[in-house]
Amino acid sequence: EKILNILNLTELEAEAKKIIPTGGFGYISSGSEDEWTLKANRTAFTHRQIVPKSLSDMEDPQTNTNVFGLDLKTPIFMAPTAAQGLAHAKGEVDTAKGVAKAGGLMAQSTYSSTSIADTAAGGEGAPQFFQLYMSKDWDFNKSLLDEAKQAGMKAIILTVDATVGGYREADIINQFQFPIPMANLIKFSEGDGEGKGISEIYAAAAQKIGPADVKRIIDYSDLPVIVKGIESPEDAAYAIGAGAAGVYVSNHGGRQLNGGPASFDVLESVAKAVNGQVPVLFDSGVRRGSDVFKAIALGADLVGIGRPAIYGLALGGADGVFSVFEHLNNELKIIMQLAGTKTVDDIKKTELLNIHY
Ligand code: FNR
Repeated sequence: EKILNILNLTELEAEAKKIIPTGGFGYISSGSEDEWTLKANRTAFTHRQIVPKSLSDMEDPQTNTNVFGLDLKTPIFMAPTAAQGLAHAKGEVDTAKGVAKAGGLMAQSTYSSTSIADTAAGGEGAPQFFQLYMSKDWDFNKSLLDEAKQAGMKAIILTVDATVGGYREADIINQFQFPIPMANLIKFSEGDGEGKGISEIYAAAAQKIGPADVKRIIDYSDLPVIVKGIESPEDAAYAIGAGAAGVYVSNHGGRQLNGGPASFDVLESVAKAVNGQVPVLFDSGVRRGSDVFKAIALGADLVGIGRPAIYGLALGGADGVFSVFEHLNNELKIIMQLAGTKTVDDIKKTELLNIHY
């Protein structure tokens, strides 16, 4: 497979569009409604600035970090994204391989193309989390949580911002139906997802999730549970009150509530509410080393990417995913050096400017 020559993470989208079939590409790339929030996820990073520290006598910055007791070579992680078989025949198995090679953390989706155990094996022992979409069928939830534990997942990510799918017009225009099964749904009574549209998949998911549901998942699972899709201090407090081991700030890459704020614009207020009680994960719109730096400076412990890694997978399999991670981490190192920060802990102590251009 071709080793990716990456200029930046944004330009990968146009390349991937050439090789992913229209329906799958629309599903991956699009946001909801008129994609205002999707676009805001990018522009929000201009709202904060990193002041250079040029006389810091700095070289060779270190991006390694320890979160949830896991030693990682980079704070950048693979966000849970569904149906990666749309991008590449090997799907999540190859993504796991590429992320592991980069020394990062991989999160598997409930709606993965490959099974929890196969994806775990792809990562060859590198740390992975399992993302759960809570189903109406409690036995199904239990069986996935059991399987995740058995496969050695280090934590559960419970996604709470998708009790209904966002209104995504690309999928309507393309009459998109998943052309491939979702491995975790194979034993599910309502089918494995193949030949179904997004709304049919969502119909099996719980249509309401409150703090009591979060607590129920936490009580059942022996693993730490991170709540994903938190955008307000209130929801962060509910999650922590229910026993969450982590708060994951995300607007689902602009695919759910259009008209909501950019994820980056709410990160600081959520991180302040969390106040160091549990780690903070962040994603949505991260494409640059400077974005990663700014998110950490505002309180994120781990910073996720979704679409760019899927495009890397499409363009180069496991090596493509590795290249995406390596490229973004190298951009981060350049920013660290110019900002006079030697370690990820130094980034956390950095004050950003707040000027709206
Ligand atoms: C997602 N996302 C997602 N989130 C989740 O919790 N479970 C899932 O199954 C999926 N599936 C999914 C599919 C695709 C194609 C995309 C693009 C995204 C959201 C994902 O975890 C993450 O929040 C965003 O992808 C982050 O935004 P960027 O990096 O794509 O801008």
